[in-house]
Amino acid sequence: MTPADFAALVRSRRTNMKVDRDRPVPRELVEQLCELAQWAPNHKRTWPWRFAFAEGDGRARLGETISAAMEAHGDEPAKVAKALTKYLRTPASLIVGAAEGDSPLRTAENRDAVAAGVQTLLLGATAHGLATYWGSCPKGANDAVATLAGFEPGTTVVAIIYLGWPVEPAAVPERPAVALRTV
Ligand SMILES: Cc1cc2nc3c(=O)[nH]c(=O)nc-3n(C[C@H](O)[C@H](O)[C@H](O)COP(=O)(O)O)c2cc1C
Repeated sequence: MTPADFAALVRSRRTNMKVDRDRPVPRELVEQLCELAQWAPNHKRTWPWRFAFAEGDGRARLGETISAAMEAHGDEPAKVAKALTKYLRTPASLIVGAAEGDSPLRTAENRDAVAAGVQTLLLGATAHGLATYWGSCPKGANDAVATLAGFEPGTTVVAIIYLGWPVEPAAVPERPAVALRTV
């Protein structure tokens, strides 16, 4: 791969939800992408990445879990109802968690390592032609989602990544000019 190839891959990754709902995303492919994510830098080698795959009925369970947590958290009924079915919009989603560290600093660094891994995963998915969409875990739903995913208590859900095969390209948001200062 040339530097130009790498730049093209980075620039072509797009947050895109316009996918074929009926075309499955192979679990083996997702496992390969998770393995790639684990090559991100990780201070103290704590290996903080946690993954859980939601496809088929798992997507509905994810929506039900989030919807119930949002309701308990006092979210608006319209938002609660929307959450119930939102994970059915793509054939699969991947829940990515960051394990708690043994200090607040290590917990923050674990999250950084997981976020770095998520970007690697998104680029790998792009290279395979998959569309991805990094969604946040809704407010108040972290612990319920972590429990559903089988993650340890204290795990932060860093991303819920919608996955699917694209049917339409997404708009390209412009990036600001780089401001590289000198110290
Ligand atoms: C930590 C994080 C959380 C995000 N959560 C959401 C989200 O909840 N909903 C959403 O529409 N986009 C979310 N995004 C995706 C951004 O909206 C998206 O990256 C941005 O619009 C730029 O588009 P691009 O990824 O195609 O360049 C998230 C991105 C990051 C890094």
